[in-house]
Order: sequence, then structure tokens, then C-alpha cells
Amino acid sequence: MAKRILVTGASGWLGLGIVKALLARGDEVIGLDIHMSPQLSALRQHYPRFASVEADLGEWSQVMEAFRKHEPQAVVHAAAIVGVVHAADIPVKAMRVNVEGSVNLFEAMRFHDVKRVVNISTEETYGDFTAHIIDETHPQKPTSVYGLTKLAAEHYGRIYADRYGIECINTRTCWVYGPDLPRARVPKVFIDAALAGQSYHLKAGGDLAVDQVYIDDTVAGVLLALDKPKHRFDAYHIATGQAPSIDDVARIVRELVPGADVSTSPGWYLHGDKFPTAKKGALDISRARKELGYAPKYDLRKGIEHTLSLARESLRSA
Ligand SMILES: NC(=O)c1ccc[n+]([C@@H]2O[C@H](COP(=O)([O-])OP(=O)(O)OC[C@H]3O[C@@H](n4cnc5c(N)ncnc54)[C@H](O)[C@@H]3O)[C@@H](O)[C@H]2O)c1
Repeated sequence: MAKRILVTGASGWLGLGIVKALLARGDEVIGLDIHMSPQLSALRQHYPRFASVEADLGEWSQVMEAFRKHEPQAVVHAAAIVGVVHAADIPVKAMRVNVEGSVNLFEAMRFHDVKRVVNISTEETYGDFTAHIIDETHPQKPTSVYGLTKLAAEHYGRIYADRYGIECINTRTCWVYGPDLPRARVPKVFIDAALAGQSYHLKAGGDLAVDQVYIDDTVAGVLLALDKPKHRFDAYHIATGQAPSIDDVARIVRELVPGADVSTSPGWYLHGDKFPTAKKGALDISRARKELGYAPKYDLRKGIEHTLSLARESLRSA
């Protein structure tokens, strides 16, 4: 099992979670990001097994230098321009980071003989779901710039697997939530409003059914994919297999925070109030259960409860 892992996007929300989980179990970690967050830098004081690298994945020479200097044995790829709205606002940069950056990474792996990468991918690569619950064989026809760039990275990975024997394992996750989610999305918007004693009404999209997975379960799934000695598949759903509606999320927050005034209206959900979402649903996790032993610990209620209690703690200590 690889013990010196390079994590891209290490300052990011999921990347940092993955770095911490790897360090906690004793691995050596190299955290690469285009900018160093204070949380990432702070890890250096506690873990001599941690090294950080400020590098732009879009710059081939910087990626190669990181591999030359730190000699990773495997990679978790979490760096990206993330989100449907964000990527649509800066499509050229999204292509440069998500596609060119991934190819630079695969090339560096080829030159340095690194054989495994777990690429964090997304349900956005599917576009419109054709059923309430879908498995990993569902056609991938993205309807967003973000989904298209993430699909391109997956396909490049397949070519590098065929040509150069690099195993590129894709963990396709869905809407990940938990403490400090860095974007204004459900359930964060409801939780933040409820704790601040403010009202939040989502104008449309209450009936959107979408798989929502707690961050710790996502991180656990990524590590299982990283550790499995031999893979029969190159893609796994790391989600919950359930698709609660956005209205369910609001109801749970109302039940858990007495007096919370959060609600939704029916209609098509809009990303950032402007882009209609693709049709969503649940991601079947049977393959990940069987092949990886993945078993999510949080259903939506438990995940929101946990997020709330951590948010309350951080408000108390602020
Ligand atoms: N959060 C979710 O709900 C979700 C769902 C599905 C998939 N994903 C995937 O998980 C991964 C991490 O997402 P996140 O939510 O942590 O996002 P994030 O925005 O918090 O993290 C992304 C990180 O990538 C870094 N980055 C951007 N451009 C870079 C570059 N050129 N070179 C090096 N680093 C660069 C950013 O600085 C940031 O720290 C992404 O690949 C995303 O597509 C996230």
C-alpha cells in the first residue's frame, strides 16, 4: 500500500479533509495547491510527515518539480475549478485547470512512474439522470461546462490507463456537505440562516431530489479506493444511494433548530439563481459497497445534525 501520497487541491474543502485523514492514519502527505491556506500551513507544525507545495497544476514545470522533489507513490486529485456556476463564469480557466491540469498531473505520473491516482469526479459528468437511481454505467452526457471538464479528466485517465498502465480511479460523488462547505448551497444556506435566526426561502427547486453525502463519508470512500490493491472498475459512486428532496433538507433543519424559518418552493432548481440544474437523483452505491467495502455512516438527518453541532461549537468558540 502506498504511503507517500500527493494530494492536489490540498487547501480546498475536500482536499484538506483527505490530507488530515491520511496524516491521522500515519501516511506521509504532500499537499499541493495553487495557494496555501492557513489551515494547510498549520499542519506542518504538527506533522513532520507533511510537506506542502505551492504549485499551479496548469504549469507543467511546477507539477514536474513537485514530483521530482517529493517522489510521491500515489496521488489523490482534488484540485479543480469547482461548481456549475463557478466553471461557467470562467470557462477557459475551468478547462485549463480541470482538463490541462489533470493531463499535466497524469504526464508527471508517467515520467515519474507513479501508478495510481484517485480522481474525485462528480455526478455532473452524467448530465440528466434518466432514472431516479443510476449506476456507474449510466451514459455520461454532461450539460454543464463543469461536468464536461470533469468528464474529460476521467477520459484522459482512461487513455493513460490503456497506454501507460496508470490506474486512474474515479470516485464520482454528488452534493457533498458538512462543516465549512465553501459555497452557498443547501444545506449550508439553511443551517447558516437557522443559526443566525434569519429567514431563508428558496424560491424554486424544493422538489429537486439529489443524493447528498456527508464529507466524512466521501473522504472514507476516497481512501478505500486509494487502498484497494487491485481494481476491477475505474469508477465508483461515493454517495448515499438516497435522493432526499431539497424540501426534506429544509424540514430536517426546521426540526433540529427550533424556530428555524427556512423553506422552499416547488419548481426547477437553479444553480446560483441562474443555471437550471440537470435532472438528478440517487447514485447507486452497490459497486462501492461490494468492491471497496464502502458503507456511509451518515444519512441526511444524522449528517445535518452533526454539521449543526460543529457549527454551534465553532460559534461558541468564536
Ligand atoms: N464539494 C462537492 O460537493 C463536490 C462534489 C463532487 C465532486 N467534487 C470534486 O471534489 C474536488 C474538491 O472539491 P472541493 O469542494 O474541495 O473544492 P474547493 O474549491 O474547496 O477545492 C479545490 C482546490 O483546488 C485548488 N486549485 C484550483 N486551481 C488550481 C491549480 N491551477 N493548481 C493547483 N490547485 C488548484 C484550489 O485552490 C482549491 O484549494 C474537485 O475535484 C471537485 O470537482 C466536489
